Amino acid sequence: MFAPGKYPAVGRLNLATPDPTARDAAVRVRGIGIQITGADGQQWRSAMIDPPFFPVSTPQAFYELLTASASKDPEAMKRFAGAHPEIAAFGEWAKSAPWTASYAQERFNSLNSFVFTNAAGTEHTVRWSLVPTIAATAIAPDDLAKRDADFLEQEIVERVKAGPVSWKLVVTLANPGDPTADPSKPWPTDRKAEEVGTLTATQIIPEDHGPCRDINFDPTVLPDGIRTSDDPFPAARSAAYAVSFDRRTAESGSYPRQQGATR
Ligand code: HEM
Repeated sequence: MFAPGKYPAVGRLNLATPDPTARDAAVRVRGIGIQITGADGQQWRSAMIDPPFFPVSTPQAFYELLTASASKDPEAMKRFAGAHPEIAAFGEWAKSAPWTASYAQERFNSLNSFVFTNAAGTEHTVRWSLVPTIAATAIAPDDLAKRDADFLEQEIVERVKAGPVSWKLVVTLANPGDPTADPSKPWPTDRKAEEVGTLTATQIIPEDHGPCRDINFDPTVLPDGIRTSDDPFPAARSAAYAVSFDRRTAESGSYPRQQGATR
């Protein structure tokens, strides 16, 4: 995957909500799913989000968070936060991080760790990020409220029409003892980071019949040389994404399948 060259990539920019009608200005977490195809046809799929760490430590806790936030019991979230104090840091991020004006200004993070094996057979546990190549502009809260429901989508369509948009792919190496199994714990900022490539978006295609619609951005689809680590999230995500993929592609009225679709 890291041999010098140009490799095709397709991806989907998203808002972290199950509500397809949600306003762009109302969803705190933004993400990208990406599939890179290497020279030998192997695929590297990744789904990344813009917070610098995940709200909870384990897949079970994430399940409990979703259950609590969907609950009608006004005490449910308080009880959850009491049992999972690690969520406080995420709350702070959500309150203080800027709402940027463009997907192109977002840093998207794998948060989960993976293991890279180099040509000599040495293993390194890593996390990766897509780092924007342009500065972020923050939208003030009163301005945000006035933005069009799909302002992010409209912005990226216009931006890519005017010229390619790119992010640097940066791989951060864990030091021995770093928390590799817990995405709610960021690694210290002095860890070695290598820029390994550039993702360039040259075309934006509407999702309805676009090439990403029938891709499941399962984070366990990895090329030779990259494997899952002791982080339990990717396996849990793989199981959940498969169920979700089956449900959404079965919505044949609003979301027709393309011929020859594969998972
Ligand atoms: C146990 C934890 C998690 C669960 C149960 C979960 C569940 C899901 C589900 C059901 C989908 C929809 C998949 C589809 O319909 O194709 C999804 C999409 C997504 N998830 Fe997660 N997720 C988890 C953790 C994470 C983490 C840690 C990240 C990023 C660091 C992440 C990033 C994303 C992104 C970017 C998408 C959109 C991908 C696309 O456009 O297809 N998720 N997640």
